[in-house]
Amino acid sequence: MTRILGISGSLRRLSFNTGLLRAAAELAPDGVSIDVMTLDGVPLYNGDVEAEHGPPASVVALKDAIAACDGLLLATPEYNNGIPGVFKNAIDWASRPPSDVPRVFGGRPVALVSASPGGFGAILSQTAWLPVLRALNMRPWFGSALAVSRAGALYSENGVLTDEPTRKRLADFVAGFSSFIGK
Ligand code: FNR
Repeated sequence: MTRILGISGSLRRLSFNTGLLRAAAELAPDGVSIDVMTLDGVPLYNGDVEAEHGPPASVVALKDAIAACDGLLLATPEYNNGIPGVFKNAIDWASRPPSDVPRVFGGRPVALVSASPGGFGAILSQTAWLPVLRALNMRPWFGSALAVSRAGALYSENGVLTDEPTRKRLADFVAGFSSFIGK
């Protein structure tokens, strides 16, 4: 079994990005599972807290979940053309201490997807992640791109991705990333 961990960078209940991961989990090919995780409960990074107490329990759980997966799928919203603070903050926490980066991130396959009600599907946020993935020595998959634009028209009122062409693109994306992980 190939185990993918999908992390959504949105805390919103009806998040388009979390909905994208939930749909990805449904559409994963045989032999591939996708666990969907959100970042509720991760506090703001504070070096004093780290020095005095070490990473909080929510961060330890995040790190262990990443370390246990075969591939990481990041679903990123875009705020002001960049990475939302909630998401960057959590990955910054997970990158501490630096001695743990090889275990948690090093060489790990990673892919990015995004969704936005706007016309560009949060593609600038995907681009903004690239230096972060490089800093963490990850192994990004660039075999295809998925930036879901005009998301408001593609989801049900419950936050479920219902648009069939987008679901098909997502299924192809997950299949491509899964096969990259397997290599
Ligand atoms: C946004 N949004 C947004 N969208 C976009 O495509 N480009 C952008 O630069 C921004 N900037 C931005 C800043 C801030 C502070 C907020 C709160 C929102 C809109 C954003 O895409 C929208 O809220 C999405 O619904 C967020 O993703 P989730 O929560 O649906 O996953």
